[in-house]
Amino acid sequence: MLKIEGLRASIEDKEILRGVDLEIPAGAVHGIMGPNGSGKSTLVKVLAGDPAYTVTEGSVSYKGMDLLEMEPDERARSGVFLAFQYPMEIPGVSIANFLRAAVNSIRGPENELPTFQFYALLQDKLRELQLDEFWGNRYVNEGFSGGEKKRNEILQMLLLEPGLCLLDETDSGLDVDALKIVSDGVNRMRSPERSMLIVTHYMRLLDYIAPDRCHIMLDGRIVQSGDIELARRIDSEGYEFIRTGVAETNV
Ligand SMILES: Nc1ncnc2c1ncn2[C@@H]1O[C@H](COP(=O)(O)OP(=O)(O)O)[C@@H](O)[C@H]1O
Ligand SMILES: [Mg+2]
Repeated sequence: MLKIEGLRASIEDKEILRGVDLEIPAGAVHGIMGPNGSGKSTLVKVLAGDPAYTVTEGSVSYKGMDLLEMEPDERARSGVFLAFQYPMEIPGVSIANFLRAAVNSIRGPENELPTFQFYALLQDKLRELQLDEFWGNRYVNEGFSGGEKKRNEILQMLLLEPGLCLLDETDSGLDVDALKIVSDGVNRMRSPERSMLIVTHYMRLLDYIAPDRCHIMLDGRIVQSGDIELARRIDSEGYEFIRTGVAETNV
């Protein structure tokens, strides 16, 4: 489904990704942890096609397509979705209009959802996330708390039904109840055709979501992979044992 090999990427001539290898099969949910600045956000933004980064080496194939050759909007249309760590505010644009445009741009001009159908779908998803029915009238992320912005990202994900969900610290800023609601939303989206990569610092989200595999990113590479026990060990011990291990293998 998603296969990343030897991926290197830079921003302003500073190399951030230094040879990322990662494979996520169809239907799998993978978690990724790593210290601040290790390149987690860079990785998911490069996958989504953020033009601020230059890919210098490596390959990314998604459903057999060469993702790196595709424009950001083509990637989105082919099912790649990124829930941002820091979602943008779009003053003056209502959530409902924004989401309708997003849904229709992915469905394509021949396949647009009739307005009433879109609103019915929106109300369904709002209920699922326990957001109030007037949520769609608010301007995108304007004046939102951190947690509200994250829920709004998940709302977008539920509506777009992407094939590859990249979630960048969607749990930070969420209170315990919101975390549960968001995790339930993510869990309901699990399907044999869909893959997910979840960037997080917190064990609680991984406990709710129970990823199939966990990866540790350090200095722009994935240096260790394992099951949820690896995440648990990081949670209790920190990254020191990983650093030590990497230092030893580099000798
Ligand atoms: N626009 C930028 N200009 C220069 N350096 C950047 C920029 N964006 C990110 N970086 C650097 O890239 C590194 C990785 O950042 P990031 O991918 O956000 O890490 P993480 O998400 O793991 O905390 C950091 O050292 C950060 O300072
Ligand atoms: Mg980040």
